[in-house]
Amino acid sequence: MTTESAGPSGTALVRLDVHLTEGDADAALRDDARRGLTARPKELPPKWFYDARGSDLFERITDLAEYYPFRTERSLLTDSVADIARTSGAETVVELGSGSSTKTRLLLDAFRAEGTLRSYVPQDVSESALRGALDELAERYPDLDLHGVVGDFTRDLDKLPGAPTPGGRRMIAFLGGTIGNLLPGPRHEFLAHVRSVLAPGEQLLLGTGLVTDPAVMVPAYDDAQGVTAEFNRNVLHVLNRELGADFDVDAFSHVAYWDAENEWIEMRLRAERDMTVRVAALDLDVAFEAGELMCTEISAKFRHESIDAMVGAAGFEPTRRWVDEDERFALSLVTAV
Ligand code: AVJ
Repeated sequence: MTTESAGPSGTALVRLDVHLTEGDADAALRDDARRGLTARPKELPPKWFYDARGSDLFERITDLAEYYPFRTERSLLTDSVADIARTSGAETVVELGSGSSTKTRLLLDAFRAEGTLRSYVPQDVSESALRGALDELAERYPDLDLHGVVGDFTRDLDKLPGAPTPGGRRMIAFLGGTIGNLLPGPRHEFLAHVRSVLAPGEQLLLGTGLVTDPAVMVPAYDDAQGVTAEFNRNVLHVLNRELGADFDVDAFSHVAYWDAENEWIEMRLRAERDMTVRVAALDLDVAFEAGELMCTEISAKFRHESIDAMVGAAGFEPTRRWVDEDERFALSLVTAV
């Protein structure tokens, strides 16, 4: 781990801990690619969508008419954040995968107005994204302690600053509905991991998409302009660049469908012809058959009962929930018991 303190005089105290180096990320990508490309059916985890191009494509997705989750959560947060801050009263806000600066600003402004907030801890896998965010935040919030953590939220939360102290007043925010990208097993492990780093009384603010009409959900993951298709295929560009693979990216097409039994959207890549792909860095040849499907993402949607059951199983009790008027997205404040 490396820590630095920065901040010219008169500006905020800024620290940055790095728990995840480029070498760690590379090893994790190799593991995931080897495991996923040799599995049946094949799969690749969605975390590898997000290189610079993938992050840009995701930003473009958030502007699409069809992609309601981002916009819905943002306006729900705008409308409810004062209420959330009042209910929470946290002194420290930790934001996991602190991608969107708009949502961060909404949170920080509301918690500062409430008068309780002392520090903000953004966590992200991208060191460069975090550095950029911290620089901007230090200017905007010179009175806040800012402590960035570069790490993987499924593993590294025990390294967050501030040990769980009795009567602690921290709130971990996990927005965007990203919890839906985890399968039920890893989802439970993740929530139990979050619970394990909190003291009783400390909180989690969880954003989740809700089950709604498939005619609304499916186009959100299969837009008319094909931006989501490009985003999906981007994982193959990442493997080509990072692992010396030779995927013919255009030979794969984008598939998104609603799995009504599991209540998740599943994105897949379909091989449009027979082919063998060489992954040089793994010394691996991977055969695809025409029509073969490879899973690249699930995005689970929830109901009130499934949210309560999921957080309850991990040792939280529901405190309050805010839902948009079309009941497409929920923000749940839950408390560690
Ligand atoms: C950023 C994980 C919330 O699951 O809706 C968008 C990613 N995938 N379009 C989601 C995504 C396809 C998104 N999250």
